[in-house]
Amino acid sequence: MCGIVGYIGDSNVEKVLMQGLDSLKYRGYDSAGVALYDNGNIKVFKAVGKLENLQNKLSALSDDEKRASMGIGHIRWATHGSATEVNAHPHLSMDGNIAIVHNGIIENYKELKGELEAKGYVFKSQTDTEVVAYLIGDEYKKVGNLKVAVQHIIPRLKGAYALCIMCKDEGGKIVVVRKNAPLVIGIGNGENIVASDIPAIISTTSNIVYLNDDEVAVVKKDSVEIEDLNGNKIPLNIQKMSIEMDAISKMGYKHYMLKEIYEQPNIVRNLLCGRITNVNTPISLDEVKISRDALKQLSRVQIIACGTSLHAGQIGRYLIEDLVGVATEVEPASEYIYRKNTTDKNSLVIAISQSGETADTITAVRQAREKGAYIIVITNRPDSNITRYADSILNVNAGIEVSVAATKSYTAQLLTLYLFAIYFAEVKGVSLDRLPSIKEELVSIPVKMEEVLSSDADIEKKAEALSKYQNFVYIGRGVNLPTAMEGALKLKEISYINANAYPAGELKHGPIALLDENMPVVSVLIPGHISYDKTISNCEEARARGAKLITITSSDDKELEKLFDVIIRIPVVSDMLSPLLAVIPFQLLAYHISNFLGKDVDQPRNLAKSVTVE
Ligand code: F6R
Repeated sequence: MCGIVGYIGDSNVEKVLMQGLDSLKYRGYDSAGVALYDNGNIKVFKAVGKLENLQNKLSALSDDEKRASMGIGHIRWATHGSATEVNAHPHLSMDGNIAIVHNGIIENYKELKGELEAKGYVFKSQTDTEVVAYLIGDEYKKVGNLKVAVQHIIPRLKGAYALCIMCKDEGGKIVVVRKNAPLVIGIGNGENIVASDIPAIISTTSNIVYLNDDEVAVVKKDSVEIEDLNGNKIPLNIQKMSIEMDAISKMGYKHYMLKEIYEQPNIVRNLLCGRITNVNTPISLDEVKISRDALKQLSRVQIIACGTSLHAGQIGRYLIEDLVGVATEVEPASEYIYRKNTTDKNSLVIAISQSGETADTITAVRQAREKGAYIIVITNRPDSNITRYADSILNVNAGIEVSVAATKSYTAQLLTLYLFAIYFAEVKGVSLDRLPSIKEELVSIPVKMEEVLSSDADIEKKAEALSKYQNFVYIGRGVNLPTAMEGALKLKEISYINANAYPAGELKHGPIALLDENMPVVSVLIPGHISYDKTISNCEEARARGAKLITITSSDDKELEKLFDVIIRIPVVSDMLSPLLAVIPFQLLAYHISNFLGKDVDQPRNLAKSVTVE
């Protein structure tokens, strides 16, 4: 959600900014803009909609018109005020001396705006960001130094911000500051770059500095200096970035989503590596820092997440309750934070967030921490905000996920939850007779995932036939109810087709009224568990109402062909581990349907990759 880039150096500033913004598009946006500094002038260009619209505007300019020695750029996902050019960033101070781009939300902007209006300032946009530009402009008039003006106004801001600021009167420097919103500085050779996320930096340098909350950095062409708000110098901690270019390239796939679906077997393989050495040896999970005694004493687990991560958490609940026998609740972070919950020091809170920047989940973790709970964060971004509130961080190591629809991060979260549940059971000394066979089967999952992927061409054909339907019902039971929910979410978010998931047994309590020949029912059927026969009965009930039936199953029973119109077979797998395989056909179905319908697979409308507002 929103992206920032700032660049100072001898390369073509406009190009570096546009490339950087292009690499951040995946986060979701609906307008874009850049401010170019040239010889005491700041020129601002903005466009609503796709980045191409801004690029077209810039391409129409002469080299002279876009000459610049530094610049800042932004993609905006509208929060305060709709997606218009006026609301797009960069914003200028009223006198035009200061230009800023901002990620995050200034919670007290109305109050600050009122103060400035009382002083005679007139605002052009509806944004909170313009208020910050005016505030810095106002302070700059008093102190005549950009860095100091920023240091003075930061304590007045409530909320989250990553700010990148230029001043007409102070060429040769970009000032940046952040709080609860990501910002990274890339240290180049005779050039420096700042961005809200690493993909924007990767083609300039692999040396990076992470800014801490309320540290102010002055970024010049040949130097970067950091101070706290009181002017105390902070040493530069330059780190080598580990992310490879491959992570942000499509590697020949038509879309990032497809590439990311195909990456799943290797991600799982890598996650298993070194964890399960021998099925009879306890699992190794050194990242869990809670003492074994404290873990044994825990009386409850609460899992908090949003969206796809929430579905992973729902499967986590089945695993922990089944293998460990400890009561586990799962709740959307957006619900948890607004009610009187009973989290206490005997609770283990597991927060799951791919991006680590989801505002609701971060707030939930903060609240739980204040109540004394032990916090485990499962994330794909160990450098993200949420990890600041964690006692233990489990990095799912899926590599940067560019497609807005989460796929590989989901299976990596699931695998991490399987590992954690087994670890927890071993520490508690329970389910010990079952664990060796579960571990053995886990090790076989990557090869089975590859088998599922090898039927992609067949799934694509089935998807083409299914792409004519406007409504779907997804059903599942037990550990695969969340799989059905995840399948339905994938379909609706990238193809805009209405897909609702229900517990299979709930169908007859209401949703069955919806069914007819235009509403296919998609189910998950895994033999070897009582839910198998029960789900078949639910499918029979749907068939009796004329619904077309589709199933994803590990059964090779030929009889199923009499009942089901479409069967997608996955390898034989236990009910417990089946979510790791069953989700892949759901991802592929959603992908191919979206592709057939000509939708923007990687950047679906209205969605953002990291949702930084509550
Ligand atoms: C769906 C999707 C979203 C996210 C949700 C939480 O494909 O990506 O539902 O899962 O916004 O995001 P994280 O996991 O980053 O907290």
